[in-house]
Amino acid sequence: MSVVYIRGGRRIDGELTVHGAKNSVLPILAACLLAGGPVTLTNCPHLTDVTAALAILRHLGCQVEQNGRTIWVDPTGASGSAISEEQMRSMRSSIIFLGPLLARMGEAHLTYPGGCELGPRPIDLHLAAIRTMGCEVAEDYGIHCKGKPVGGDIQLAIPSVGATENAMLCAVGGTGITTITNAAREPEINDLQNFLNTLGAKVRGAGSSTITVEGGHRLTGGKFSIMGDRIVAATLLSACAAAGGRIRLQGVDWRHLATVLSVFHQAGCQVMSQMEYVELRRDRDRRLNSVPTIRTAPYPGFPTDAQAPVMAALATAQGCTMVVETMFDSRYRHVSELQRMGADITTEGRVALVRGVDQLHGARIEAPDLRGGGALAAAAMGAEGISVLSGLHHIDRGYEGLEHMLQALGGCAERRED
Ligand code: UD1
Repeated sequence: MSVVYIRGGRRIDGELTVHGAKNSVLPILAACLLAGGPVTLTNCPHLTDVTAALAILRHLGCQVEQNGRTIWVDPTGASGSAISEEQMRSMRSSIIFLGPLLARMGEAHLTYPGGCELGPRPIDLHLAAIRTMGCEVAEDYGIHCKGKPVGGDIQLAIPSVGATENAMLCAVGGTGITTITNAAREPEINDLQNFLNTLGAKVRGAGSSTITVEGGHRLTGGKFSIMGDRIVAATLLSACAAAGGRIRLQGVDWRHLATVLSVFHQAGCQVMSQMEYVELRRDRDRRLNSVPTIRTAPYPGFPTDAQAPVMAALATAQGCTMVVETMFDSRYRHVSELQRMGADITTEGRVALVRGVDQLHGARIEAPDLRGGGALAAAAMGAEGISVLSGLHHIDRGYEGLEHMLQALGGCAERRED
């Protein structure tokens, strides 16, 4: 079993360019199905979820090549309309292929994406959007969709990121005008819009609650660079806040991190943000302060994906912090692992009460999910002694070479066989 050894308690000091965003590259890879020629994507992170997405594209008949952080996809020979259960289960976001596949092939046959560590993750809004665009959706042992999307007025009951992206992709490949109301506003949706428009699509409104897609435009191939990963950035900032020292991150837009930076500022860190970098300093002689309630919310609120890493930093703050997770049912599975490191945290449903302790200590800990894994790494950087972090299959879905990133920040981290 692979594990990462982390010797904590050392001052963080370093600079890093944050890798491309998982949550941007995955829908953009699915969008490649709609392109009329080869697509070159740069700044693509090496993640197991990206490998899974490439396998789905190949299975559907696309030619795919990967060279370093550049991915080349030629979808012109794509002909398949079915994704196997194994591939659907290989990655939670496999459902994002539904919209573009249906739009391109006139039919799509999928199964439900695998069960999720964060609690139930329904896809009813994705399917309702597709029905609104005039397509048939049948659900039995799998999901079977038929028809050419003809546009429509989609009102999302929740600003779901995945449903917004699926609706955009389906609408771009169809005809007519589609309006998505109560759309998610996450920055990765802007990245998707920019990519689609680079290929000749007519999408506007991303970043606001209303997105309009004018279908019927033939897309070309093109070149696009994936935005930096704001959640990886939040995790590394959390590691610095936990351990103390200084970190400067390039490759992310600090505005995408505004709510996270505000929490660190309130906790007593110095935060400097410029267009080209974000820097955080934490004096090692002073403990962090607890902060008033952290409540996760759709963008531009506090990101649910940053909840666990920021909690890890606040586990040693002076005083109590209340965390309210409003997005997912089961997003405190990192808490029991933090407790093994000496944290004093109690949870009740969607609320967690973090009573700051003086110091965490190293322990054997297991990543319960992707961001929970990032949180444990951040905690281990601040803890006294050695932590042995397992469950790397979760971490490798979304952090490219986590141990190398920690090393670049002056941390002592190494991947070994245990
Ligand atoms: C995306 C992100 C994930 C992040 C989440 C919330 C990707 C690949 N993943 O996930 O990292 O944690 O946004 O910011 O971009 N819901 C329904 N019905 C649906 C769809 C969603 O009820 O059909 C609910 C979910 O259960 C959840 C809420 O809507 O409570 C938000 O989920 P959603 O925004 O869809 O998350 P994902 O797109 O799956």
